[in-house]
Amino acid sequence: MYLVTGATGNVGAEVVRALAEAGEPVRAMSRSGRAEGLPPGVAAVAGDLNRPETVREVLDGVRSLFLMPGYEGQSRILADARASGVAHVVLLSGKSAELDDDNAVTRYLRAAESQVRASGLSWTFVRPVSFMSNALALADQIRKGDEVRVPFLGVRTADISPYDIAQVAARALREAGHEGRVRTVTGPESLLPSDRVRILGEVLGRDLRTVGLTDDEARASMGAHFPAPYVDAFFRFFVDGILDESQVLPTVQEVTGAAPRTFEQWARAHMDAF
Ligand SMILES: NC(=O)c1ccc[n+]([C@@H]2O[C@H](COP(=O)([O-])OP(=O)(O)OC[C@H]3O[C@@H](n4cnc5c(N)ncnc54)[C@H](OP(=O)(O)O)[C@@H]3O)[C@@H](O)[C@H]2O)c1
Repeated sequence: MYLVTGATGNVGAEVVRALAEAGEPVRAMSRSGRAEGLPPGVAAVAGDLNRPETVREVLDGVRSLFLMPGYEGQSRILADARASGVAHVVLLSGKSAELDDDNAVTRYLRAAESQVRASGLSWTFVRPVSFMSNALALADQIRKGDEVRVPFLGVRTADISPYDIAQVAARALREAGHEGRVRTVTGPESLLPSDRVRILGEVLGRDLRTVGLTDDEARASMGAHFPAPYVDAFFRFFVDGILDESQVLPTVQEVTGAAPRTFEQWARAHMDAF
């Protein structure tokens, strides 16, 4: 049995699908325990990663665990997982966990990795760069008009699709040989924000124009969705330039045997969201 946390989210839903398609038994956990949209045969369960007592009973019979990072109950959940016989945990982390910088994002990712290392469980860390699904944040603007305002105009990143993060995670959950490995994963091309807007326009048949936000506008815009310490972390990464996500890495191809999806492929698969 596999337990997938964050199972209704961008990555978790793809991990559930990958395991179900491989014929594996899956429990799909979220706070809501929502079953809608899950593949046939997958059991939806409710559990809150900030409240370990709500996760304990769904660990029963689980062999491998896919874990979202940064929740308060993590140490306790890992101890309970070990006690109930879980053998392996695959942690969704992030590339910034490799940085020796004290900001809100590196702090929670590094803490999550440290707790997993200390748990006594066998583990794999999947460290993605920025997700292609972050482009969903542009959907409201795109529905309203052709001008698309974006932060960090000059920052090139090799964004990865949640599908490919999940393909790597599913391998690590199902197969031997991934124990103690850190998998830093990227997409197949390094793009500027304006490249992504252009590609979205092509896919949607629209003539979209990119306009850069000033730093103050970017802070205000991101501040509507993230707490201030997270916005500060994004500025450390992409304005101070301490995080380089521009490099294309071969990890997805090496681990899965397939090339990672392009942004255009991701956009075509998510056209309805725009
Ligand atoms: N976006 C990026 O560029 C990026 C880059 C590197 C790493 N990451 C990491 O990836 C994570 C985001 O992954 P994603 O995009 O798949 O997330 P997402 O789409 O926001 O989904 C979050 C999932 O977690 C569940 N959840 C939220 N709070 C929970 C709680 N307290 N207990 C149990 N489940 C909870 C949600 O369902 P319910 O709300 O129903 O519980 C949902 O299933 C980030 O949190 C970050 O740590 C992101």
